[in-house]
Amino acid sequence: TSELPKGYNLRPLQKSDHAEFLSVLTVLTKVGDISLETWSARYDWMAARNDEYFIVVIENELGKVVAVGSLIIEKKFIRNCAAVGHIEDIAVAADQQGKKLGLRIIQALDAIAQQVGCYKSILDCSEKNQGFYEKCGFKLAGVQMAHYY
Ligand code: ACO
Repeated sequence: TSELPKGYNLRPLQKSDHAEFLSVLTVLTKVGDISLETWSARYDWMAARNDEYFIVVIENELGKVVAVGSLIIEKKFIRNCAAVGHIEDIAVAADQQGKKLGLRIIQALDAIAQQVGCYKSILDCSEKNQGFYEKCGFKLAGVQMAHYY
């Protein structure tokens, strides 16, 4: 496992991360103009499900959020009522990429998934990110399909 750069810290998402967290996510996709009130309602909804939604961030030495990632726990009937981790919305600020922050986020989410008893974690990504996830220990498995509404 790799170490974080000096002064960097990995921790759970906090409600006060609003602007910085959403800003990091813009490297991934459209985020939209999310008001503090809308953020707050969604944050509280997830916080009330804190055995299902795990969101971690890495802050730099100045306390600024520079990398983020989410793990959602899905409970199933199959495999004796097993649980599966879904890794979602991994993003590292553009000027912070290549410092192993993405890897550290995935390692943290993998550790949580194992601790809560998941037998595997899965994710969808673009072909250009396949190499990154292979470095994180993931293997190509199946085909992603989507139905947009
Ligand atoms: N292809 C191949 N290898 C890669 C790639 C890539 N696209 N990106 C990183 N790597 C390698 C690195 O070289 C490093 O290898 P090494 O150990 O041999 O040196 C290893 O993977 C770990 O790289 P990190 O430094 O941890 O990568 P970084 O912190 O830059 O994070 C990430 C990677 C998350 C893909 C980042 O570039 C990013 O935020 N991209 C834009 C948003 C995005 O595409 N997010 C993923 C969406 S998929 C999802 O969320 C499930």
